[in-house]
Amino acid sequence: MNKVGLVGWRGMVGSVLMHRMMEENDFAHIDAHFFTTSQTGLLGPDFAGTAKPLQNANDVKALSEMDIIISCQGGDYTKSVYPALRESGWEGYWIDAASALRMSSDSIIVLDPVNSDVIKQGLEQGVKTFVGGNCTVSLMLLALGGLFEKDLVEWVSPMTYQAASGAGARNMRELITQMGDIHASVAELLNDPGSAILEIDKLVADKIKSDDLPTDQFGVPLAGSLIPWIDVPMESGQSKEEWKAQVEANKILGSSKSPIPIDGLCVRIGAMRCHSQAMTIKLRKDLPVDEIERILASHNDWVKVIPNDRDMTAQQLTPVNVTGTLDIPVGRIRKLSMGPEYISAFTVGDQLLWGAAEPLRRMLRIILD
Ligand code: HSE
Repeated sequence: MNKVGLVGWRGMVGSVLMHRMMEENDFAHIDAHFFTTSQTGLLGPDFAGTAKPLQNANDVKALSEMDIIISCQGGDYTKSVYPALRESGWEGYWIDAASALRMSSDSIIVLDPVNSDVIKQGLEQGVKTFVGGNCTVSLMLLALGGLFEKDLVEWVSPMTYQAASGAGARNMRELITQMGDIHASVAELLNDPGSAILEIDKLVADKIKSDDLPTDQFGVPLAGSLIPWIDVPMESGQSKEEWKAQVEANKILGSSKSPIPIDGLCVRIGAMRCHSQAMTIKLRKDLPVDEIERILASHNDWVKVIPNDRDMTAQQLTPVNVTGTLDIPVGRIRKLSMGPEYISAFTVGDQLLWGAAEPLRRMLRIILD
């Protein structure tokens, strides 16, 4: 059985990964070894009979005994350990959730329902480094996979509505705390049906702007507001999150030499763990909406076309409906008034499942097969 080293299994993405690996019985196919940066020697977790002492995640010799390593430990860890591991001569498979190695020429970004051909070819050519994509990019490609597969997309402008989880566990806690603090500041007035809404609104605005609202993680209030900037600035004027859309999507699709333009604004909103995206798409030709829907729906097992109907959209095309599932609903598909090749679409996906953990465990199974 392949020895598989797991690093960063206790964090948020790592925990979701462990849960999915249990659900899919992945541990029955591997000899799992758990690594830690802080608790070497303590007994590791018991995921389906895996309990053994934890090994040191910074010990290159211990890591080099693994056939496959999956890391959810973050980019700093990858940057410090991966080069030393490769320099030591290790030729195992490295599967990573962090972005550090995504754009390296010797890595492949994994999203097998979309790029199994790129993955298969890479494995045949001896590629050993596989990295999960940026969450918004993976979720967009799963939703629009059918159109990309048939080379029907001239360009896409995705405008995102990104959940707190994408910024980290502490950010999710901060968002909920902000929500609670805001509610508490007007709870009594809310209970009084005769109170004036503009007075409540003023108190809420004062609370959101006040220094007592916790903002250590986001830097500014998110509850009752939004933040139209994610990650660091690039020279182009894009945020790094916006820059990733085109470069990563084209790398996944294997079209980097002649990239499809993909660019839009990325916005943080007060959802918990589902990223949503409103997309303007220029098709290469005028296709009827029902054909577009058929192409989208038949691409993979998780995408589901939601008819452009008010009630169905409000019920099914929301973070609250998708959270904790692998579903990729896509709806609001209609022709835009700019011309017959211009369509809109809206999609939602769980940022921790298809956006982070799921492509990694599926890559593990591809290597094992
Ligand atoms: N960068 C993403 C976000 C999550 O901030 O929402 C990770 O892909």
